[in-house]
Amino acid sequence: MCGIVAYIGNQQAAPIIIKGLKRLEYRGYDSTGVSLFNGSELYTIKTKGKVSELELKLEDQNSIDAQVGLGHTRWATHGIPNDKNAHPQASNSSNLVLVHNGIIENYASLKEELIQRGYTFTSDTDTEVLVNLIEDIQKKEKVKLGKAVQIALTQVIGAYAIVVFDRRKPNELIAARLGSPLAIGVGENEFFVASDATPFIEYTKNVIYLEEEHLAIIRSNRDIAIRKIKTDKVIKPYVEELQMSLENIQKGGYEHFMLKEIFEQPQAIRDTLRGRLLSNEGKITLSSLRDHENKFLKAKRILIVACGTSWHAGLVAEYLIEKFTRIPVEVEYASEFRYRDPIIFQDDIIIAISQSGETADTLAAIKIAKERGAFVYGVCNVVGSSISRMTDTGCYTHAGPEIGVASTKAFTTQITVFSLLALHLGMLKGSLSRSEYQQHLAELESLPDKVSEILKQETLIKEVASSFNDTNNCIYLGRGYNFPVALEGALKLKEISYIHAEGYPAAEMKHGPIALIDEQMPVVVIATKKGHYDKVVSNIQEIKSRKGRIIAVVSEGDVRVKELADYCIEVPESLECFTPILTTIPLQLLSYYIAVQRGCNVDQPRNLAKSVTVE
Ligand code: AGP
Ligand code: GLU
Repeated sequence: MCGIVAYIGNQQAAPIIIKGLKRLEYRGYDSTGVSLFNGSELYTIKTKGKVSELELKLEDQNSIDAQVGLGHTRWATHGIPNDKNAHPQASNSSNLVLVHNGIIENYASLKEELIQRGYTFTSDTDTEVLVNLIEDIQKKEKVKLGKAVQIALTQVIGAYAIVVFDRRKPNELIAARLGSPLAIGVGENEFFVASDATPFIEYTKNVIYLEEEHLAIIRSNRDIAIRKIKTDKVIKPYVEELQMSLENIQKGGYEHFMLKEIFEQPQAIRDTLRGRLLSNEGKITLSSLRDHENKFLKAKRILIVACGTSWHAGLVAEYLIEKFTRIPVEVEYASEFRYRDPIIFQDDIIIAISQSGETADTLAAIKIAKERGAFVYGVCNVVGSSISRMTDTGCYTHAGPEIGVASTKAFTTQITVFSLLALHLGMLKGSLSRSEYQQHLAELESLPDKVSEILKQETLIKEVASSFNDTNNCIYLGRGYNFPVALEGALKLKEISYIHAEGYPAAEMKHGPIALIDEQMPVVVIATKKGHYDKVVSNIQEIKSRKGRIIAVVSEGDVRVKELADYCIEVPESLECFTPILTTIPLQLLSYYIAVQRGCNVDQPRNLAKSVTVE
């Protein structure tokens, strides 16, 4: 996610905030801004682009003599990256400014109500709705800022970490969080509020990690008051002494960004489902389809174009979409599609998948498709990226910035989007019954917790990795929905450990690859109960009889494979169509620990770039 840095105390706020925002740049962002109060004037300077550009704009303002301010680096979710959508966002009266990490899911209905009450909006963000909601409550209820923020947050659905400032009460900052982190640095008559401790670690090691659903009233001349948002219960602030190094904090305490992002997947999947899987209403809502459902329902064919891991997600999407909608799907390497003079029919739908939204081959494929009149739908992780702007519409994965070159949370959130899309269209087409639909919605909602369960096996997987970190080759096998996961698992191992690995449909072994099997050849087999289990067990027996060393990903409680495999990693049972989101997790951790044990540069593997913006 993006970054927040706020300061209140007796030092100059601007340099502290700017330096703090630079400390948070590793988190990825697209725009930035700062509000500073000098005792009479509230200055807000914002810019699309980097903190260095913000710094230049600030210099133009000469030095603003301010001891309180809020800063923000934005990772857009609602409204493209530009100056007006950057934070801080101000209320209509300009008395309040607010910075926000996260997503206000019910912003549209709140915005409607505020417009009815005469509020106007200058940005496209959900955040501007929140700051005006707070202002509206302040006016109506005639309450202090802290109380108004508290009341507003009981009306908000979504995830947030916010800091709010009222120019009429300049010795106070209000901070609150639900689902996004906030740390409060406690200095000598000064306080810092930031997304993590890196912006203030050099000023103080005394930190309060604000807990879920807690709101803090921070006054420069007094102690902090903390209370629970919903119950108003007063909470005793718990100040702890920071032990972590700067670099350690930036990775959230993990050794590498890749590991941090693997462990962020439960939250990333939840954020991608948020506002789209409405379980209490028993339905899916996808705003990107609102005006295009008929196009999809009439489609004779769907062509998916992507590269690398995104191409693997496209293969899973093929199984999902064909199962639930019976629309034929073809998945193409964008790099091949762009050069083979592709045949595109009038009713075709092209879906482009890209984490970065900047992959040159995928961009070129979209360009050709659009030149031939096709409707193009995008699945991207970066709001306002080139691909998201070239497509006719699309659905963002809300995975947050993916820093590690090896794609992990992008893959599982891409599959999450396609699960929503396929189920929604299948329901519209009547390809599945209401009860089947509800069963799938319930299972989809349970996936983040199931992913968390798998992540608890990190130690076991690390031990398994130690038995294979000296291998030179590896084969990955899967069937059906898990054939693409076998390809993805092999790619993960290849790109971060430099071990040659290949993914195959399990049944393909007898058509050649089985000649490779001997006691030197590790074989990773995905053998979950759902999906041709008996056939996969036969494949495992074929490998075992040739002395292959077998690592199996199995369903919890499996007995048969455990008798055959050298190592078993269990995943919770799920519906077959959702198993890829689960079975890929052990393979991510396996490749990560093999690479670490081989001393590889996991976050920046040799020869690779995070976004391949060249041919
Ligand atoms: C996957 O781990 C790699 N980083 C790479 O294959 C990547 O998926 C591919 O370059 C596509 O990138 P995109 O999703 O940003 O378009
Ligand atoms: N949803 C808010 C926006 O799009 C905040 C995004 C973020 O976390 O930076 O502006």
